[in-house]
Amino acid sequence: MTNKKNPPSASRRDLGFATRAIRGGTQRSDFGEHSEAVYLTSSFVFDDAQQAADRFQNREPGMVYSRFSNPSVQMFEERLASLENAERCVATSSGMSAILSTCLGLLKAGDHVVSTPSLFGATVQLFENTLRKFGVPVDYVPLTDPQAWAKAVTPATKLFYLETPSNPLTEIADIAAISAVARKHGITLVVDNCFCTPALQQPLALGADLVLHSATKYLDGQGRVLGGAVAGRSELIEPIFQVVRTCGPSLSPFNAWVLHKGLETLDLRMRAHSTSALALASWLEQHPRVARVLYPGLASHPQHALAMRQQSAGGAIVSFELKGTNPTEQRQRAFSLINAVQIMSVTGNLGDTRTIITHPASTTHGRISPQAREQAGIREGLVRIAVGLEDLEDLRADLDAGLAA
Ligand SMILES: Cc1ncc(COP(=O)(O)O)c(C=O)c1O
Repeated sequence: MTNKKNPPSASRRDLGFATRAIRGGTQRSDFGEHSEAVYLTSSFVFDDAQQAADRFQNREPGMVYSRFSNPSVQMFEERLASLENAERCVATSSGMSAILSTCLGLLKAGDHVVSTPSLFGATVQLFENTLRKFGVPVDYVPLTDPQAWAKAVTPATKLFYLETPSNPLTEIADIAAISAVARKHGITLVVDNCFCTPALQQPLALGADLVLHSATKYLDGQGRVLGGAVAGRSELIEPIFQVVRTCGPSLSPFNAWVLHKGLETLDLRMRAHSTSALALASWLEQHPRVARVLYPGLASHPQHALAMRQQSAGGAIVSFELKGTNPTEQRQRAFSLINAVQIMSVTGNLGDTRTIITHPASTTHGRISPQAREQAGIREGLVRIAVGLEDLEDLRADLDAGLAA
């Protein structure tokens, strides 16, 4: 007889990726529901005073209070841990709170972080405006040069932080090479795997210590909820969990349920996003108004070979620069394109079934200084497309009309 409450497939790590994405982490109630229930409750009742005391003191496993224990959140954490081949995962209210909780959990005043300018804008803000205020300086080195990471190490360096492919330029970090540097110096390497997801890239297998997500993006995949997560070895996750438990940037059970269900289609979605993105990138490369296209799946991408070694496909993000004689003209052309498209959405997100078009220099990266933007290579003519799952021909026609505008 099968055990309704604990389907055996929920914890098997030997199953294929798609099977784990669909079956992993499931916990059934006594009702035997097929699709997972949503546990919308702030707290849990105890049988008696002794059980309450035991649960609070961690002498008995079980749920207590949804800031740090909730079955819906736990199901999402377990499923994602399985997909990233991690011992443990902790979920958070957003990608930014995953980054903050990781820093608060693993760093103290006097520690030093090495990162890169090729980073999501708000992550740079978090490092510069928050971490620095608490006595943790961050130095920035080129994402693509492992030697530069080695040179930036000081006796105080505790954390390496990177995303690959980077947002929005799709630069690729050599995770194995940078992790070798980290290992040599006892530094924890954190990789934001937001663009690829475990469906296309598994940073822990390449030597990273922690993998981090804005679950808001492809893990949900449909633009519905905010969420975040960090996964890795239990001993690294425990202090991050303690920050989430005490400080409260916790994932809501409803969002956890949405994300848990989102993972069921992750494999299919990421492959479809990548196929359309490659086709659009190849087409854009031939377009007379386009100066250059940045997409890891293109042979012309500066790190195409590395990308194809560590990713199983190029992902959904295609960035390209419009021609123009000066930054003002380039910005004007980018704005004209964005104003002219009819199907693509103009919105500040990525990782949706709907294709999204963005001008990074004035939006996602608008709050960083012009010098930092220039250093990061985010120019005025740059446009980022997060390719969705609409019909490819419709997307191509939309861009074609937009580029003609
Ligand atoms: C690469 C990357 N990391 C982190 C974040 C932050 O995630 P969230 O918006 O869920 O806080 C984003 C958001 O766009 C992102 O693109």
